[in-house]
Amino acid sequence: MLTVRAPATSANLGSGFDVFGVALSRPADIVRVAKADETTIEVTGTGSEYIPEDPEKNTVGAVAAALDAPARIEIDKGIRPASGLGSSAASAAAAAVALDELYDRGHTREELVPIAAEGEAVVSGTAHADNVAPSILGGFTVATDEGVTRVGTSLPLVVCLPETVVSTRDARRVVPEEVTMDEQVETVGKAATLAVGMCRGDPELVGRGMDDSVVTPARAALIDGYAAVREDAFAAGATGVTVSGAGPAVLATCRANDRRAVGSAMLDAFAEAGIEARVYRSRVG
Ligand code: HSE
Repeated sequence: MLTVRAPATSANLGSGFDVFGVALSRPADIVRVAKADETTIEVTGTGSEYIPEDPEKNTVGAVAAALDAPARIEIDKGIRPASGLGSSAASAAAAAVALDELYDRGHTREELVPIAAEGEAVVSGTAHADNVAPSILGGFTVATDEGVTRVGTSLPLVVCLPETVVSTRDARRVVPEEVTMDEQVETVGKAATLAVGMCRGDPELVGRGMDDSVVTPARAALIDGYAAVREDAFAAGATGVTVSGAGPAVLATCRANDRRAVGSAMLDAFAEAGIEARVYRSRVG
C-alpha cells in the first residue's frame, strides 16, 4: 500500500479567517491507499468512532471521487476530529497526495489543494482551503480564490486542546455576517502585520496580527475557559493567542524558550475551569 502522512494545521490565525493557515509539526494523520474497483474506507485511531466510513460522507471519499481514483483507503487518525486542528483536512490532504501518486495523475501539490478542499465541503459545507493548503504544502499559507501563496518558517507554536468538542458547522454559524469599515481596516492591518511577521519569523509581529476582533471573540464564546487560558498564556510569555480553526483548540505563539511555560499555563487555566486538556509544543512545520 502507498502511505502518506499529513500534518495537523491551524487555520485563520485570528485575522486571516478562511485564508491563513499553518502546518503544525505534530500531530498527524496517516493514510494508506491501494487500487480497487470501488472506494472503501476504514478509519482507526483517535476519535475514529465518530468518523463515517461511507465514502459519500467521508472527506476522503470526496477526494477519491474528484480524482476518479477508486481505492481501498485506510485512515489512521492521529488528529482528533472536531478539535480545530484540521483533522478532516489532514485526511483529505493525505488522500489527495496518495491517490494522485497511486493513479499517476501528475497533479502538482498546488493543484491538489482545491481537490482536497472538496473534502472539506463534505464536513463544513464550504470548500475552504485554509487547512488543506498548509497540510499539503507545509509552512504558512495564504489561500484565496486565485491560488495559494506559501512561506516557509519555523515559528514556535503552542497548541492546547481541551477535551471539549466544537463542530465546524456550529462555529461558522456564529461568525458575523457583516463588518464595519473600522473593523475592515483593523483586520487588514492585523493580517498584513501577521504576514510580515511570518516572512521575518518574528513571533512578536505574528502575535500582534493574531489579535482579531471580529471572528475570534464570537468563536471564543463557544470555548469554556478561553478568557483565562488566553490571559494566562500572555502572562507566561505568549506573544499572541487565538482560537485554532473552529476551536476548541487554542493556539499561542511565543519565543522558543517560553514554549514550556506557555503550554503549562494554558493547561493549568483549563484545569482550573474543570476541563482536561493536552498540549502540543510545536512549530510551523
Ligand atoms: N477557516 C475554517 C473556519 C477552518 O474557521 O471555519 C475550519 O477548520
